[in-house]
Amino acid sequence: MKKEMIKLLLSQNVISEEEAKRLDLINDETIEEAIKELGFGKTEHITKDKICENLETEKIAKEILCFRKVFSTNSIAKFLANHDAEEGTVLISEIQTKARGRLGKKWEAPEGGIWMSLILRPQVPPARIGLITLATGVAIAKSIRSLGVDARIKWPNDVLIHGKKISGVLTEVNATFNEIDWIVVGIGIDSNLKLEDFSEDIRIGTTTLTEELPTKVDENELIAIFLNEFEKVYQLYKDGEIEEILKDWRDLSDTIGKYVNITQTGGKITQGYVVGINNEGSLIIERQDGTLEKIISGELRTVE
Ligand code: BTN
Repeated sequence: MKKEMIKLLLSQNVISEEEAKRLDLINDETIEEAIKELGFGKTEHITKDKICENLETEKIAKEILCFRKVFSTNSIAKFLANHDAEEGTVLISEIQTKARGRLGKKWEAPEGGIWMSLILRPQVPPARIGLITLATGVAIAKSIRSLGVDARIKWPNDVLIHGKKISGVLTEVNATFNEIDWIVVGIGIDSNLKLEDFSEDIRIGTTTLTEELPTKVDENELIAIFLNEFEKVYQLYKDGEIEEILKDWRDLSDTIGKYVNITQTGGKITQGYVVGINNEGSLIIERQDGTLEKIISGELRTVE
């Protein structure tokens, strides 16, 4: 009975898995089973079989879970990562009702976009965590470029077309000082959506593939193209071939060589010229007085 109740609550978005656990309605096994069962056979256009038609990966996406509607694929991915989900597991939802963006912001994820999360367990030094975000940006930009549009990366990993955002990445991590347990990489791509599908305040800086292309995108194919690209860049990441990733990132960058304003976590604002990125993925800014500053994270705006 309990499991059925939880499934119902989750499917109706009445309750999140965190809330269900807090209220002690369930144990970990029940919720894991419920989430898994909810994921199968309920989607309307994104399916594992259709994705697999174009999938060429060996390790990434051995497990693909497709959902019709969830709060946030990252939240479910984190839950499953804490319960031994395998490296390379992919979660996709056609709709997210409480999706999360970088820097604590909300992310709008209506029907028509690609909303997915990957569970990774790289055996690399925790100092390399920041680079996974850049590597993911490279894979997204390359997969969108394969459709014939000039996608570029704004530091750290927004993907833009003609200066407008089409995709973002939210990376969440569980690691100790020495070791990474898991990384969840959440990817949002505004694919078959119109600007009217978003609230007015974000329309101005946003674009979608529907706005940029004459025909509808095959979302299952684009997901497979992305996963194929991701596997390549992830292998470089695990092998420590950082220069290759950074070279691609620099070639695709929309940020290097521009004057920017960066609001760092904590509110500090840095203004200057972007000289480049270092091999940890931090941005190097030359301030007006000629001194250099390294920025690890923050929100960047180009100064005209
Ligand atoms: C950003 O702020 O640019 C990052 C947006 C990340 C959105 C994706 S959609 C799939 C995954 N689930 C979430 O709740 N967020 C990420």
